[in-house]
Amino acid sequence: MKEALEQIRCTAKELIACAADEKAVDELRVRFLGKKGELTAILKQMGKLDAEERPVVGALANQVRADIEELIASRTSQLAQAALTARLAEEEIDVTLPGRLPARGGLHPFHLVLNDLKQIFLGMGFEVASGPEVELDHYNFEMLNMPKSHPARDTQDTFYITENILLRTQTSPMQIRTMEQQKAPIRIIAPGRVYRSDAVDATHSPLFHQIEGLVVDEGITFSDLKGTLEVFIQKLYGPETRVRFRPHHFPYTEPSAEMDMSCFKCGGKGCPLCKGEGWIEILGCGMVHPKVLENCGIDPERYSGYAFGMGLERITMMRYGIDDMRLLYENDLRFLKQFQ
Ligand code: FA5
Ligand code: MG
Repeated sequence: MKEALEQIRCTAKELIACAADEKAVDELRVRFLGKKGELTAILKQMGKLDAEERPVVGALANQVRADIEELIASRTSQLAQAALTARLAEEEIDVTLPGRLPARGGLHPFHLVLNDLKQIFLGMGFEVASGPEVELDHYNFEMLNMPKSHPARDTQDTFYITENILLRTQTSPMQIRTMEQQKAPIRIIAPGRVYRSDAVDATHSPLFHQIEGLVVDEGITFSDLKGTLEVFIQKLYGPETRVRFRPHHFPYTEPSAEMDMSCFKCGGKGCPLCKGEGWIEILGCGMVHPKVLENCGIDPERYSGYAFGMGLERITMMRYGIDDMRLLYENDLRFLKQFQ
């Protein structure tokens, strides 16, 4: 019987040591120590022993039980420790790993140019004004010296909403809105979206942007206009850039002109961007027509002013050497990322 007990202790020790998980350990506990277990089975035969042997074997049996219980306890805690270690390893956070950067957007080339342009004009004492894209015929045409029958209306293919409401075809209505609201001296630029029923091509879009400029004060002359625009262009494109003024006609300015700048790409020699001309038309301008001043309650005998209107698309394309306006509207990330 002693041998049987030693055998149980030995087998239990081996099996418990390599039990794979807590469930296996529990099965071994039942197998050896349970009510129908191997150790219990031996204890049941104790009665067959003689009185001398009984206490000796009893003590040994208790010792074996205690040993197995201890083996089970230590294996259980070993397994729990291993499980904890495995879980910690799996959930470990390496705080030294570089973070994943969120994808960052950039400003659209329009905004880059507009920001520079605003800085230049703010530096010359201008304020930035804005007004509605859905405009009254009254402001877009009538007050600008273009009554319903005026032929100049035909040069701007207009999206009408009703007979008297339209999508503004130019930022020039901001001249009127500003002069109605402010007293001279006035010095504003008004950037914004404008609309014309033009077909899309490399230099035209039905939705585009203009920047209007308006200055009204005593003693304003055409040289103020020329000087301001020349400084503006040279600040935006570099000091070697030249400008020229060509006579033109707008109903709301007199005299009127269009301003060209020497081609940004070829410096005036002639290239595909300027179509071999060396010059690129950049804006329309002129002295505010006395009738327009009068329309807005400003005395043309005392005050004079100038106005200009330029296309932001044109200016942006010149700035970055972009040869197709559609690139500015397609939102192709491969194009836009170049400006980040
Ligand atoms: C005007 O719109 C005048 N209001 C400018 C002005 C303001 C003159 C103040 C005098 C005083 P024009 O129609 O030429 O002028 O347009 C001005 C600029 O807008 C053009 O030089 C061109 O750069 C741009 N532009 C015109 N049509 C389009 C179009 N469909 N797509 C993109 N840009 C355009
Ligand atoms: Mg023009």
